[in-house]
Amino acid sequence: MIIGVPREIKIGETRVSMTPSLCRRAVSLGARVLVEKSAGSSAGFLDAEYRAAGATLTSSAEKVWRSADLVLKVKEPLPAEYSLMQKGQALFTYLHLAAGAGLAKELCQRRILGIAYETVEGGDGSYPLLKPMSHIAGRLSIQIGAYFLQTQYGGSGVLLGGIPGTAPGHVVVVGAGNAGAHAVRMAAGIGARVTVLDLDMRKLENLDQEYRGKVITLMSNPANIEAEVAAADLLIGAVLIPAAKAPIVVTQKMVGQMRPGSTIVDIAIDQGGCIATIRPTSHKEPVYRHHGVIHYAVPNMPALVGRTSTIGLTQATEPYVAMIVQKGVERAIQEHPGLAAGVNTRDGHIINDEVVKAVGFDS
Ligand SMILES: NC(=O)c1ccc[n+]([C@@H]2O[C@H](COP(=O)([O-])OP(=O)(O)OC[C@H]3O[C@@H](n4cnc5c(N)ncnc54)[C@H](O)[C@@H]3O)[C@@H](O)[C@H]2O)c1
Repeated sequence: MIIGVPREIKIGETRVSMTPSLCRRAVSLGARVLVEKSAGSSAGFLDAEYRAAGATLTSSAEKVWRSADLVLKVKEPLPAEYSLMQKGQALFTYLHLAAGAGLAKELCQRRILGIAYETVEGGDGSYPLLKPMSHIAGRLSIQIGAYFLQTQYGGSGVLLGGIPGTAPGHVVVVGAGNAGAHAVRMAAGIGARVTVLDLDMRKLENLDQEYRGKVITLMSNPANIEAEVAAADLLIGAVLIPAAKAPIVVTQKMVGQMRPGSTIVDIAIDQGGCIATIRPTSHKEPVYRHHGVIHYAVPNMPALVGRTSTIGLTQATEPYVAMIVQKGVERAIQEHPGLAAGVNTRDGHIINDEVVKAVGFDS
């Protein structure tokens, strides 16, 4: 099997889908690995390290795509990459098709076996390939929010931790899953006043136990969200319904009630976003203002810390990559229901029901 590792081309992307260490493992199991030159350089992995790990390097992205049985990526293919995809090829990467109808169509037309990291399931109902990036995005959301709250970046001038004699900033986190819980951890750590809302009482109970009253937990419903959002200095969107388009939990009216210069970081933007006024931004232009409120909605936040993110991601993907090399893609999917749950497109069809619902077609 030939595994292709292209250089990521999304704006500001610094991650790479394979470290030299994962490359060594794949080669030892019998794969040939073709890496595009400088694919790992933004994450601090040098071409020489891939060569030493047994990879072949090429300066041609086209060669990587055309030769590979399995293309291993980080982010979804962009329009510039569509024509490089080979009919029947397997693609293992984040796809987020609920927010990407155009890509879903391309994958169907080109009959790509599209395995989405974000819907691969662990045995316990978890999403092991989404989890590490959600942890990173959750943690980053607080430092990003703190940055844009500073006056010279247009923010309201609130220091989240406050100082003795002043009230700390108020951080409201909607969604208490992997991203939300790590946002809570960072916000509580710097001394902000933190409220977290979720529909899942067990998650709220866990956070209540962990923070022993220092973090306020609330059931997510429109009344609670409206009251909290109006008082928020920093609002974090971190909800997920797996594979589906994110539900809008914060309305335009609620955003309009926020104080000017307050900041929203909608981590859920990769699934379409959970704030009514949100649209995707990029690392080049990460924020815009709406109703006087700063909106940040970068779909590849972990690229800000490419080294940590690459190591976190590839540690999670390694067992799946190893299994695919050992068994072949088809047998690996047949024998591992968790990996099978990652298959979003196959033989010209979308086979994930939530994606079909979100994009409105199945082939
Ligand atoms: N922007 C980025 O760079 C980036 C990086 C990583 C993850 N993400 C995204 O972050 C989002 C969250 O991922 P996660 O791993 O934390 O998911 P998760 O499944 O661990 O947590 C999601 C939480 O949302 C809750 N939820 C669902 N509907 C809700 C509602 N109406 N109100 C309140 N809570 C609700 C669920 O109960 C769950 O606890 C996903 O969209 C994921 O793709 C984005």
